[in-house]
Amino acid sequence: MNLATTDEVLKDDTEVDARTQALGRELFALARRMPSGESWWDRRVMSLGMSDEHVKAQLFRLVDVLPVLSTSQQVNRHLREYLGDVREHLPWVARAGLGWLPENGFFGRRLAGAAVKNTRRMARRFIAASDVTEAVAAAKALRARRMTFTVDLLGEAVLSAAEAIAYQKYYLDLVEGLSNDAANWPDDPLIDRDDRGPIPKVNVSVKLSSLFSQFDPIDPDGTSRAVRERLRPILRLAKDRGAFVNFDMEQFAYKDLTIRIFREILGEEDFRAWGDVGIAIQAYLKSSGEDLRELAQWARRRGTPVWVRLVKGAYWDYERIVARQNDWPLPVYDQKPETDANYEAQAAFLIENCEWLRPAIASHNIRSIAAALAHAEAHKLPQGAIEFQLLYGMADPIKAALIRMNHRVRVYAPVGALLPGMAYLVRRLLENTSNESFLRAGFLERVPEETLLMNPLKLL
Ligand code: FAD
Ligand code: 2OP
Repeated sequence: MNLATTDEVLKDDTEVDARTQALGRELFALARRMPSGESWWDRRVMSLGMSDEHVKAQLFRLVDVLPVLSTSQQVNRHLREYLGDVREHLPWVARAGLGWLPENGFFGRRLAGAAVKNTRRMARRFIAASDVTEAVAAAKALRARRMTFTVDLLGEAVLSAAEAIAYQKYYLDLVEGLSNDAANWPDDPLIDRDDRGPIPKVNVSVKLSSLFSQFDPIDPDGTSRAVRERLRPILRLAKDRGAFVNFDMEQFAYKDLTIRIFREILGEEDFRAWGDVGIAIQAYLKSSGEDLRELAQWARRRGTPVWVRLVKGAYWDYERIVARQNDWPLPVYDQKPETDANYEAQAAFLIENCEWLRPAIASHNIRSIAAALAHAEAHKLPQGAIEFQLLYGMADPIKAALIRMNHRVRVYAPVGALLPGMAYLVRRLLENTSNESFLRAGFLERVPEETLLMNPLKLL
């Protein structure tokens, strides 16, 4: 099979686009019938965050700091300082409440307790479990709803060798604990098989920056050597126990090195014939098309396919700030429809080249999901050859709709404590309250479906 180019893939666009619209409407119709599962408090925090950019920044800074505060005076002082700065942007109830805020005493303690408790509870919406035992229970609960999973250990960019070794051990325990229990899980053909046969029941996602404190693109050789050293025991155990390992993608600065480590370690003798591996590629990066082409050629040379989790990218705000601060060219697209259009083009490329790059479509955007489905149909991909991945605590109605349509849904389920999970939580809050969020437009603001399902190329 020759590698197709994106231009070739997009030639028969009109037909695929009509089918995308139809599939999108079907997904919307199914999803709108499903319960959303969001709590009153989550909706309040989200809508406060959405009301004003200044409030959002202060609110998320507050959420970030709350878990490390130990006394009610500290909590209330931070509430007053952070929200006082944006007082004039707050709704009148919150403005009035701020004036009354006691530092201590009975009410002060109750208020501080409620703020911390609700932050933890909100975090638990996005965090599936805090340890291995809970992770096993969470995995089983997802499977009972006919969804499979990938677990990720919360934490990234570790600061010391001891911390990195602790992460390595935690990953080993996770693979071991899940695999032991998985031996007793009954088979569900919807989630435990693809078009080529049985697939691993246990699946973990790894952020490479959690395995080496000196992860540094300036020293690619040294970093690759050290990270591979830490990764090898995890990959060996996963391979022995029949588990899957996915490499997450982090900031742009780490991208080339992450791909390099992925290729180097999976080219090693022990792992060359192992296909239960994958890597995330971010469609908001202008370089993503080129990276996928190179990955496809590499996978073909390796002789064993790999999975690609196609995402849009979770560090958009960060990349813009870093590029601006350093006067560097922007690595990400600047307009949302550009990212969306590139996502569809790269999904089509994966589908066209699925012999070597197996497509995992990770998005909560019904238009993006429907476009991938329409391309898969156009290329007559068998059921199960493509899977859909969504985050824990997000877009549950879309997950249920995809299951109804007989697709394999994998939930990305973070495991760990709140403190190392704060960066993850803030990324989710930013994403959910962004003006550009599909979920916000489609399910909170009820933008018309025709607009939401429009071809992003037409919006450019
Ligand atoms: P949409 O609302 O359609 O898209 C939002 C996205 O569009 C933003 O996240 C951003 O990428 C992009 N965007 C927003 N504004 C603009 C703009 N002005 N110009 C250009 N682009 C813009 N992310 C990672 O980085 N690495 C991972 O390893 C990773 N793993 C994931 C695993 C799963 C299962 C899922 C579902 C997501 C994962 N993500 C990962 C997160 C992902 O990158 C997105 O942040 C998230 O899914 C939102 O995109 P969407 O398609 O769901 O929603
Ligand atoms: C993140 O950590 C989901 O990998 C993605 O934000």
